[in-house]
Amino acid sequence: MKYIIHLTNEKKTKILGKKIASILEKGDIIALQGDLGVGKTTLARAVIRTIADNDVLEVPSPTFSLVQTYENKNFPITHTDLYRLRSHEEIYELNFEQALEEGVLIIEWPEKVKNLIDPYISISLQYNNTSRLAIITATGNAKKRLTTCFKQSKNLLIQKKSNTVSFF
Ligand SMILES: Nc1ncnc2c1ncn2[C@@H]1O[C@H](COP(=O)(O)OP(=O)(O)O)[C@@H](O)[C@H]1O
Ligand SMILES: [Mg+2]
Repeated sequence: MKYIIHLTNEKKTKILGKKIASILEKGDIIALQGDLGVGKTTLARAVIRTIADNDVLEVPSPTFSLVQTYENKNFPITHTDLYRLRSHEEIYELNFEQALEEGVLIIEWPEKVKNLIDPYISISLQYNNTSRLAIITATGNAKKRLTTCFKQSKNLLIQKKSNTVSFF
């Protein structure tokens, strides 16, 4: 199942981040695709702040540091932005294996990784006139969790691949 979510303003992106955070489990990868400025970091920040249970937590874009880990009560979240990755080999130095053993990994520019391992949640953000869209799919056991997550959503306009538009 593919979900298309209408992100008409930044607040919607934050609501989506909160919803995604609610289904995360240790070992999950969130792959965040989309052009510069489309809202990947904004979405990642909302996920991280929800897991950290801290609405004002500093979550800078990891464009230059490449990777940033946040410790939390339940599991750590590692946030990475691979835009400036110079070679594929550099990925091994970022220690993603350990990040996934212990917690969740959020990757901006996942196109830079050759093979993502399951389970992962793929979120592609796109500009859509004055608005933005999130196109979301999942693999492995994250699929079922995603379905549960979007079953009840009062605040987001969610379209399924079958094109039925509904306000949940
Ligand atoms: N619906 C929206 N969702 C997310 N960001 C939005 C939205 N509308 C406007 N914005 C703005 O777009 C910018 C997104 O920046 P950022 O999240 O850093 O993008 P990226 O990480 O994809 O380069 C922010 O300045 C934010 O305020
Ligand atoms: Mg970014």
